[in-house]
Amino acid sequence: MILVTGGAGFIGANFVLDWLASNRGPVVNLDKLTYAGNLENLAALKDDPRHIFVRGDIGDAALIEKLLQQYQPRAIVNFAAESHVDRSIHGPEDFVQTNVLGTFHLLEAVRAYWSGLAEEQRAAFRFLHVSTDEVYGSLGPNDAAFTETTPYAPNSPYSASKAASDHLVRAYHHTYGLPVLTTNCSNNYGSYQFPEKLIPLIILNALNGKPLPIYGDGLNVRDWLYVGDHCSAIRAVLEQGRVGETYNIGGCNEMANIDVVKTVCALLDELKPATQPYAALIIYVKDRAGHDRRYAIDARKIESELKWRPSETFETGIRKTVQWYLENQSWVAHVVSGEYQGWLAKNYGGGRT
Ligand code: NAD
Ligand code: DAU
Repeated sequence: MILVTGGAGFIGANFVLDWLASNRGPVVNLDKLTYAGNLENLAALKDDPRHIFVRGDIGDAALIEKLLQQYQPRAIVNFAAESHVDRSIHGPEDFVQTNVLGTFHLLEAVRAYWSGLAEEQRAAFRFLHVSTDEVYGSLGPNDAAFTETTPYAPNSPYSASKAASDHLVRAYHHTYGLPVLTTNCSNNYGSYQFPEKLIPLIILNALNGKPLPIYGDGLNVRDWLYVGDHCSAIRAVLEQGRVGETYNIGGCNEMANIDVVKTVCALLDELKPATQPYAALIIYVKDRAGHDRRYAIDARKIESELKWRPSETFETGIRKTVQWYLENQSWVAHVVSGEYQGWLAKNYGGGRT
């Protein structure tokens, strides 16, 4: 049994689905079901007794203690977080609440549980904290990629809150000996991603004939990793990672935003042709405040120590992703509800997108 938090969100749901598909044992899935959490992501597990869903907050220590005592998990994988940079700019408080205080309360409950385990279980127990490359800050065009020893320099309220949570996790290992692992991954894309994030936003806007908003000059660079490859990396770290270590995870796929958007447009031109090329919908809009210029991941540690490699290239992964959104229009129809419309109006101003 493992406890996954945030397993109704984009990466967490992909992780739970992959975990159960590969028969690794049952999962307790704790998720608050914020706007980003969606039980439809887990619809395939509706009648699966190996999946126990609990609606709740990682900041609710009493609930966590109860779940830990009841299910006695051998590991926790912590995905639960507020995850969207733009939302953190409009309203940082939820990010501090969940990412900092929530992680703290979760760690406290886990420490109490872990301290009471028998010697053998204590040694085998793992707390894996899923974090981001954004904690390292922004790179110039010729800077070397982020390694695990790059100093933290978070620039947004989101990345600052994730950095704080990483520090707490590290401190719980150093001070209490809690067997922790931390992963810092680059931008994910794939099925079930909420359409506030660049790639699904572009796919859905394009299909609806709406403008495709590019922040600033469109030359900000991100490293893109297919979500299934992030999940396989987390499994590798959980099973073989060295306790107390952090592992950077990336796809070796650095791309400027404008090129990502043009690639998506070209795929849609092929798979769902419209009267004009989708790229004609591209517009440049006001830049994100404090927008990090470039992220790049040096993944040599996980590759050499754990023999992990991504299995998808950007070309294969983005094709699968576009196809998934085209084939899952009912999922799309359900997520673009009232809250989502409110978010578009707030971030992009009225009806432009
Ligand atoms: P997401 O926003 O899609 O999902 C987050 C999930 O956490 C949702 O299901 C939400 O309901 C749940 N949640 C939020 N607050 C909670 C709370 N207080 N208690 C319990 N559940 C709560 O996010 P995602 O993109 O799937 O990201 C998952 C994790 O991976 C996050 O920690 C994020 O920082 C990290 N990460 C994301 C990316 C990426 O590209 N998306 C890359 C690297 C790391
Ligand atoms: O790097 C890992 C991070 O990747 C994760 O930790 C975050 O949880 C995840 O949201 C993601 O953060 P980004 O800010 O990089 O992702 P987003 O999809 O919001 O934006 C990707 C790039 O595209 C970024 O440079 C901003 C730009 N962008 C985004 C949106 C939503 C646009 O140009 N237009 C847009 O409308």
